[in-house]
Amino acid sequence: MPAERPLRVADASVIVHPDAESASKDAADRIERIVADAVAARGKAVLGMATGATPEKVYGLLAARVAAGALSLRDATTYNLDEYYPIQPLDPLSYRSYMHRHLFGRVDLAANRAHILDGTVPEHAAAEHAAQFDRWIEADGGLDLQLLGIGRNGHIGFNEPSDLPVDEFAALPTRLVDLHPITVADAVREFGSPEAVIPRALTMGVRAILAARSIIMLATGAKKAPIVAQALKGPITAAVPASVLRTVADRVVWILDEPAAADLG
Ligand code: GLP
Repeated sequence: MPAERPLRVADASVIVHPDAESASKDAADRIERIVADAVAARGKAVLGMATGATPEKVYGLLAARVAAGALSLRDATTYNLDEYYPIQPLDPLSYRSYMHRHLFGRVDLAANRAHILDGTVPEHAAAEHAAQFDRWIEADGGLDLQLLGIGRNGHIGFNEPSDLPVDEFAALPTRLVDLHPITVADAVREFGSPEAVIPRALTMGVRAILAARSIIMLATGAKKAPIVAQALKGPITAAVPASVLRTVADRVVWILDEPAAADLG
């Protein structure tokens, strides 16, 4: 099996693994180190979590390490990137349910330290709820880590492609958004049909994501190859949200498998 290969694409640090297993293990190892370093430095680790199919293996590895006594999330606090809106937490399609299945229900993280945007807030209160989420992250001292996946349209969290100037896009707060047609099409996998997809969501803003002290972008599979290449080699533009990660390149690592890296050249 070929070994992982480090790449420099423009200013970005990119690590290409032979397969998704090895990429996921790398991500889990880094998360474990970030937790240990943050807990040693200030008694807690503040982790931004992602959903989607991509991080499932990472959560499986972290849960296995906690079960084996090799890792503890006792001193961790988590903030998830996003949640559909409106949705009930017990709905199996909510990201609250996803996190419970893949991580929270399997590790020693305290339930009252796991924050997810609330898909049940009344619409008139959504903006204040979102602003409060940003204030909580700040009050917690900011994110030690943000784990990210990438949508096929380049979205991070549910920060969808936009025609804003980069500096305005980078300053976007946590807020209620409409999902992009490509995001809706991809969500049919979970929801069953285009009509069943919940077309709005609450998402952590680009500002909070870019402020994380460490960012892991994990992308696996051939379907992600074109957008990964655009984000890393094309212009830095809000039209490709993940390209904006290059404005904080020294804090970001892109962990890819060979299929996702196929268009990097
Ligand atoms: C969803 C999530 C994103 C995630 C993306 C990719 O839209 N809100 O945070 O990165 O999908 O998902 P997947 O890993 O399933 O390709």
